[in-house]
Amino acid sequence: MTEIMVEAKSMHKIYKTGKVEVHALRGVDLTVRKGDMIAIMGPSGCGKTTMLNCMSGLDDLTSGTIKIEGNDLADMSDNEKTEHRAKRMGFIFQFYNLLPVLTAVENVEMPLLVSGTPAKEARTQAEEIMEVVGLGKVMHSKPGALSGGERQRTTIARALISKPAIVWGDELTGDLDDETANSIMDLVEKMRRETKATFVIVTHNPEVGKRADKILYMRSGTFVSVEQKGQKPVPIKQGTERPQERQTVNPEPEAKPTPTKVKPKVKQG
Ligand SMILES: Nc1ncnc2c1ncn2[C@@H]1O[C@H](COP(=O)(O)OP(=O)(O)OP(=O)(O)O)[C@@H](O)[C@H]1O
Ligand SMILES: [Mg+2]
Repeated sequence: MTEIMVEAKSMHKIYKTGKVEVHALRGVDLTVRKGDMIAIMGPSGCGKTTMLNCMSGLDDLTSGTIKIEGNDLADMSDNEKTEHRAKRMGFIFQFYNLLPVLTAVENVEMPLLVSGTPAKEARTQAEEIMEVVGLGKVMHSKPGALSGGERQRTTIARALISKPAIVWGDELTGDLDDETANSIMDLVEKMRRETKATFVIVTHNPEVGKRADKILYMRSGTFVSVEQKGQKPVPIKQGTERPQERQTVNPEPEAKPTPTKVKPKVKQG
């Protein structure tokens, strides 16, 4: 069994809108071990969300490879990617909206219902996880009646209820005050210990970054430095100016076969 959850090599993403090209990812490499929590930090527009979208299979790279648990995303059909996301991935996005017409607990049980869990079992599990995230008392409220922190706890419960192997977080404490952000991160750490899931989170908040095993700093589409937990950041060099053509597997033969003269075939008959 591989100990590597994410292995991404030379990721390039170019957005084309009309005549304008934005080179959002410029040859980024990323390896994440199973069970680790990685934080990605960097200024607005440096490519963080683009990278998460590509690694979770929501968007395609222009070139480069992404393997999740050893599976190359490029070899999966859209349906396979959707199924893989539902079964193996959880999402905690700031704007990954809760459905306003459903109650919090109904939002949370949704992924289980979609993947075919019987309604009663789904509700029991959803009620349990709502207790775990501290929302036992308000689980029957609709999102509009919850505070920002409660909504984010609901999103976390929904992301984790299907026991994903990997959780992608984009500004998961974005709009929250420091105290609430801290309690959300306490919850994330608790859930991480319980589920052993791998977390890749994007954040602008250094306090959130500090909770991760490793912070990767991004600038203009590549990582520029890495900070292991509790250590000083170390510069890294990544990236290329131009995307490479996707390499097709075409191994060179070990030794060139000695040319032999072949008699031209003569049609018989
Ligand atoms: N769908 C799109 N079409 C065209 N350009 C895009 C698209 N999405 C992102 N971009 C551009 O790609 C670059 C990277 O955007 P991205 O959203 O990944 O940044 P980010 O690091 O997540 O920023 P923020 O911290 O503000 O969320 C930006 O220049 C952005 O304008
Ligand atoms: Mg973003």
